[in-house]
Amino acid sequence: MCGIVGYLGRRDARLILVDGLRQLEYRGYDSAGICLFDGKKIRTIKAQGCVSKLEEEIHKKGATISATCGIAHTRWATHGKPNRKNAHPHGDCSGKIWVVHNGIIENYQELKKVLIKRGHKFVSETDTEVLPHLIEDQQKNKSCSLEEAVRFALKKVKGTYGLAIVSSDNPNKIVVAKNGSPLLIGVGDNEHIISSDVSAVVAYTKKVVYLKDGEIAVVTPKGFHVTTLTNIPVKKKEDEIDWDIDQARKGEFEHFMIKEIFDQPEAVANSFRGRLIFEEGLVKLGGLEAVEKKLKEIKRVIISACGTAYHAGCIAEYMIEEYAGIPVEVEYASEFRYRKPVIKKDTAFLVISQSGETADTLQAMREAKRKGALPLGVVNTVGSTIARETEAGVYNHTGPEISVAATKTFTAQVSIMTLITLLLGRQREMSLVTGKRIMKELKLIPKKIERILKDAEKIKKIAEKYSKYSNFLFIGRKYNFPIALEGALKLKEISYIHAEGCGAGEMKHGTIAMIDKNFPTFAICPKDSVYEKMISNIEEIKSRGGPVVAITTARNKSLEKLCDDVIYVPKTLEMLTPLLTVIPLQLWAYYIGVMKGNDVDKPRNLAKSVTVE
Ligand code: M6R
Repeated sequence: MCGIVGYLGRRDARLILVDGLRQLEYRGYDSAGICLFDGKKIRTIKAQGCVSKLEEEIHKKGATISATCGIAHTRWATHGKPNRKNAHPHGDCSGKIWVVHNGIIENYQELKKVLIKRGHKFVSETDTEVLPHLIEDQQKNKSCSLEEAVRFALKKVKGTYGLAIVSSDNPNKIVVAKNGSPLLIGVGDNEHIISSDVSAVVAYTKKVVYLKDGEIAVVTPKGFHVTTLTNIPVKKKEDEIDWDIDQARKGEFEHFMIKEIFDQPEAVANSFRGRLIFEEGLVKLGGLEAVEKKLKEIKRVIISACGTAYHAGCIAEYMIEEYAGIPVEVEYASEFRYRKPVIKKDTAFLVISQSGETADTLQAMREAKRKGALPLGVVNTVGSTIARETEAGVYNHTGPEISVAATKTFTAQVSIMTLITLLLGRQREMSLVTGKRIMKELKLIPKKIERILKDAEKIKKIAEKYSKYSNFLFIGRKYNFPIALEGALKLKEISYIHAEGCGAGEMKHGTIAMIDKNFPTFAICPKDSVYEKMISNIEEIKSRGGPVVAITTARNKSLEKLCDDVIYVPKTLEMLTPLLTVIPLQLWAYYIGVMKGNDVDKPRNLAKSVTVE
C-alpha cells in the first residue's frame, strides 16, 4: 500500500508533493520520503512514521528550497524494517539517480549480489534499492540517456513496479514506468503530477493519463512521451475525472462502508503478506521480535478491546486456547479498567484497536502495564497512542478505515490473531504440519472472501425481504459465537434495528421467549464441530414459528428445507470460518441501512474513534 507522487512545473514542488502524500495517507504506510530538485541539486529527506514527521524533517534540514521538480513516497514495509533507512526515495552510489517504487522486485537478491560484485554500495534492506544502482550501472556501461538506462534496467527485473525516477543530470525530467502497480500522469497547464492514486492529483487537475503494464513515460513540465519497454511509441488517451477527492477514494462504490467490505480480500492478504515462513510453519512478526523470549514464558493472555475489536478478541480466545494451549480471557476494556484484576508478570495483556486511540482500551492497557503485565497491541493506525505505549505489537496494514462501521479492520484483526496464535503455538507444542495447514488455509481466505462478495446481489435480495422487521436475533456457537455478536452490532449500528447476539446454546435460558413469527433469527452455522448442535437450536426456533436465515458451508443443501433462506460461504478450517461468515453479515447490515435511507458511513450518535469514556 505504498504511494507515489511526482511533480514537474512552475509551482513549489514541495507543497504539492507533501499535499499529495497526505491524500495517500488513507492507504496506510509506515514511513515517508521526498526528493526535491531545484535544477542543480537533489535534496532527499526521509522520516519514519507519518507525513507530518517528514514535514518536520524538511523544516529541520532547512530543505524548504524552491524546487519545481520532485518525487515523494509513502512506504508500507515489505522488505526490511519500517525505518528511515529503508524509506524511499532510494539513490545510486553517486547520489544522482533517485527512485520511488511501489511493488516488489522478486529477483532483487540475485541482482544485488551482481551489483555488489561490480562495486555498488547498498545502504538499505529494501528490494527497491537495486533499481537506482541498476540504472546507474546501465548508464555507465552504455553511456545512454536516463530513459534508455531505465529501459535496460527493467529488462533485468522480475516483479511488479510503479516507478518514478529523477536524476540530477536531467533537470525537469521524471521517468516513470509501470508493471503491476498503478501509475498515472495528471496533466496540468505546463505542469504534470504523477501518482499511484488519483486522489493525489484530483485537487490540481481533472485530466489524467493511466499508464498500462509494460509502459515507460518521460515526463517534462510541457509534455510526456510514452513508449513500451521495447521503445515502441504508444499513443495515450486523456481521461477526465469527474469526482471530488472523497469520490475518488470511494471509486465505483456509493459509500465507504461497501468499498471497505469489498476491500477485504486485499486487506486480509496485506495483513499476512511477508509474514509467513511457510516451509517452517513459522510467522515473522517484526513488531513482536523484541519480546519473543518473553512470549515463550507467558502463562496467561488477557485480551481487552471495545466493540468490533472485542469480537476479534473473542475469536482469538478460541484460537489461542485450542492451538497454543495458553489460557485466555477476553474483557471489555471499559470493564477491565475499573476492576481489581489479578495480574502476574507472566501475563501478556493484548489490546486490539483499529484507531489505537480508544480511551477505554488505552486506559485498560495502562492499568495492566502498571500491574506488571506485558502490554501488547494489535493496531491499525500507525503511530497512534496505543501503538506507542505498548511494549510490542503488530500493525494491521489495512489502511485507514473511513466508514464508522468496522469491517475490513475486523477481518484483518482476526487474520493477525491467527498469526499470533501460530507464533505462540509454534513456540509451544503446535506441530510443523499443523502450522503449515493453518497457513495454507489462511492464504486461501482472500480468494474465498472474493467468492462470497460475488453473491452480494443475492444477499441484498434476501436482506430486502427482511428489512421491515424491527427485531433480529443472531446465534452462533464456538468460533461463530463472536460472529453472532458482531452481526448484531453491525445491524444495530447501521440500520438502527434492534438486534441481539446470543450463544446458540444459551438461547433456551431466556432469549427464546422472544421468538415468534415477527422475530427473525440469523443462524451462523458452518459445517464445523458444533454443526449438529446448531441444527437443534434452529429446530427450536422453527418450532416456535420464528423465520430463520442461515449461513452455512457451500454445498450443504440440507439447511434449505429447515430454514427460510440460506447463504453459502466456502469451506475452510473451523478456526478461520469467522473470516468468511462475517462477510454476509456486513453486507446484510449495509444493505438494510441503505434501504432505510440511513447515513451508513456516519451512523447517528457514533464516532469513528471513541476517545472519551
Ligand atoms: O478503534 P477501536 O478498534 O479501538 O474501536 C473500538 C470500537 O469503538 C469499534 O470497533 C466500534 O465498535 C465499531 N465502530 C463498530 O463497527
